[in-house]
Amino acid sequence: MAKAKSAYVCNDCGSDHPRWQGQCNACGAWNTLTEVRLGATSKGRSDRFSGYAGDAASAGVQLLNEINLEELPRFSSGFSELDRVLGGGIVPGSAILIGGSPGAGKSTLLLQTMCRLSQGMNAIYVTGEESLQQVAMRANRLALPTDKLKMLSETSVEQICHIAEKEKPAIMVIDSIQVMHMADVQSAPGSVAQVRESAAYLTRFAKQNNVAMFLVGHVTKDGSLAGPKVLEHCIDCSVLLDGEGDSRFRTMRSHKNRFGAVNELGVFAMTGQGLKEVANPSAIFLSRGEEQAPGSVVLVIWEGTRPLLVELQALVDHSQLGNPRRIAVGLEQNRLAMLLAVLHRHGGLQMSDQDVFANVVGGVKVTETGADLSLLLAMVSSFRDHALPRDLVVFGEVGLSGEIRPVPNGGERLNEAAKHGFTRAIVPKGNVPRQPIAGMEVIGVTKLEQALEAI
Ligand code: TYD
Ligand code: MG
Repeated sequence: MAKAKSAYVCNDCGSDHPRWQGQCNACGAWNTLTEVRLGATSKGRSDRFSGYAGDAASAGVQLLNEINLEELPRFSSGFSELDRVLGGGIVPGSAILIGGSPGAGKSTLLLQTMCRLSQGMNAIYVTGEESLQQVAMRANRLALPTDKLKMLSETSVEQICHIAEKEKPAIMVIDSIQVMHMADVQSAPGSVAQVRESAAYLTRFAKQNNVAMFLVGHVTKDGSLAGPKVLEHCIDCSVLLDGEGDSRFRTMRSHKNRFGAVNELGVFAMTGQGLKEVANPSAIFLSRGEEQAPGSVVLVIWEGTRPLLVELQALVDHSQLGNPRRIAVGLEQNRLAMLLAVLHRHGGLQMSDQDVFANVVGGVKVTETGADLSLLLAMVSSFRDHALPRDLVVFGEVGLSGEIRPVPNGGERLNEAAKHGFTRAIVPKGNVPRQPIAGMEVIGVTKLEQALEAI
């Protein structure tokens, strides 16, 4: 047997170092290196499931255009929101990481998916966290079809792969990667070394045996997946299920996807009957009261391939502090500071003695610059204590010289707003559609003054 080897792996970026040191050479983070015992050499391990290593090497080279593309038929997960986030369905042989904080609904989502999929294909659900009884009780309570899904309570990766080789599933769930361990790696389950090696081993297994594999990963306090970023290197697709503690709604977003676009947003609602898809997310983020309050404005953001209507609120209040607060929730702090400067310089509105709070309703995170004009008008509306009309939508990017710049997909955004009953819009001139939209008055603006005049 080969001599046991050690490597030192950075928890932040996952790079290897031959010896311990205080700072990671690759990313510059301090005190992030952890020892990883490699145990036996990888050759010894690779023999566990047949067909690994040897075959891959002997396949030889092929021309790119001669590679058979028909081997990638996707299949649906049964949830169209999940399919969309994955880029159109599940690809056989892919490894998909589902991340999220505890209680986000990862196990529920996968149990619902697997119960349904097991009706048509061979499926195994491996649970290392909950007992089989717990899972069975949940499945019964949710009234899921349970007769075909194979369950396994196991935390040894070698054992799981051994069983899976005999069972030949088309799809597998590993819940969760943090409790999995390998005999060769001499550190506790959940440590960098175990997570990294287990995930790599399972991913190889998935590729070799053409099994679609879902790995559940917990998010640590600082929001990173499984502590180390190491997981993201080996998997094909990384999806994050996000939900504010008390909110019913869960949003799902992919951060890495080898088979589709990233930044698609999927929206689910956690109900008494498990997770339900939200077909019309705009409706939930827009559920407003009867009265229109100052400081509130509706904007259309672009999420992946579809528009989404969200409400943005600003509160501008006289500050008691020498250093007034600028607080943005769901928006970028720097953007808020920049817009205040633009408003002062080009709109003549002085807010240096005011606290400014901005918030996106419903816990959505808005990162695009198309929200600039809406935020700006929301602040003006609150500052002047003058409510904007209920049926108004606003979007557009604001430049440093006070110009309003067009944003992509203007026409689709306006159509979505019209569908939800909005009748007026203030948008960049470049986004005004050539054909008028039925029932909607669109005001195009190029300068900040024009936007302020329009309201
Ligand atoms: P779970 O899937 O166990 O979360 P995770 O695996 O991501 O840790 O979901 C647990 C939460 O979901 C729990 O707080 C209760 C809630 N829940 C419902 O509200 N309704 C349901 O039908 C189910 C199954 C769970
Ligand atoms: Mg769970």
